[in-house]
Amino acid sequence: MEPTLPPTRSKAPGSVPRVMLRHPVARDRDELVSLLNRSRDHLIPWWSTPRGLDAEGFDPCATFERLLESANIPMCERFVICRKDTRAIIGCTSIANIVRGAFESCTLGYWAGIDGVGQGFMTEAVALSVRHAFRDLRLHRVEANIMPRNVPSTLLVQRLGFREEGLARRFIRINHQWEDHVRWSMTLEDFERLASQGQFPFARTTA
Ligand SMILES: CC(C)(COP(=O)(O)OP(=O)(O)OC[C@H]1O[C@@H](n2cnc3c(N)ncnc32)[C@H](O)[C@@H]1OP(=O)(O)O)[C@@H](O)C(=O)NCCC(=O)NCCS
Repeated sequence: MEPTLPPTRSKAPGSVPRVMLRHPVARDRDELVSLLNRSRDHLIPWWSTPRGLDAEGFDPCATFERLLESANIPMCERFVICRKDTRAIIGCTSIANIVRGAFESCTLGYWAGIDGVGQGFMTEAVALSVRHAFRDLRLHRVEANIMPRNVPSTLLVQRLGFREEGLARRFIRINHQWEDHVRWSMTLEDFERLASQGQFPFARTTA
């Protein structure tokens, strides 16, 4: 029998009660760049800065270009998060570093603009991304790497049932410094167990 191959390009993950995820499009530029500019102080302490970026590092226009270029390629999916009531974009999630073959793994990324924090929207959006990684992309492992002092992000993955795996030293350049990150993960088996126990948000709904 032919093995079931994962999809090469995926559909958007859809929506949960208060947010929806969709691939970014060119007409999102003004709204997203404006959101990033308003959120500069909130985001800069957590913003990845690859080598070669200028001293500023946080460049909303360049961020939007990269978002569009890598929104739906074999090794990466990026989504804008929209509130369902206002349709406003409140942030982004990504499923990056998708490695197939013996790994079937990926790395989660997410950020909320300043208007979207502290209201539970991001827990919904990240839950939807995780569900998409397992159910639609048929991955086996989802990882999130978080700086120990990033308390809101740590609380978010804990709420979803991720497990802590250990410290990766000087793991990613954040705001121009190599920073230690704690690796959190969820496997397909964890996800299915949590879903069957009703402990993973929106595992069954397509609202
Ligand atoms: C990490 C980040 C996405 C977390 O966002 P967040 O706003 O804390 O997450 P949520 O949207 O799920 O909101 C959860 C909070 O809203 C509160 N909340 C308020 N109303 C709520 C509601 N109706 N439903 C659920 N939660 C609600 C929760 O109690 C929780 O607060 P608590 O953590 O103090 O208990 C955000 O802080 C961020 O963008 N940081 C900068 C970028 C970043 O760090 N990215 C991750 C790098 S690893």
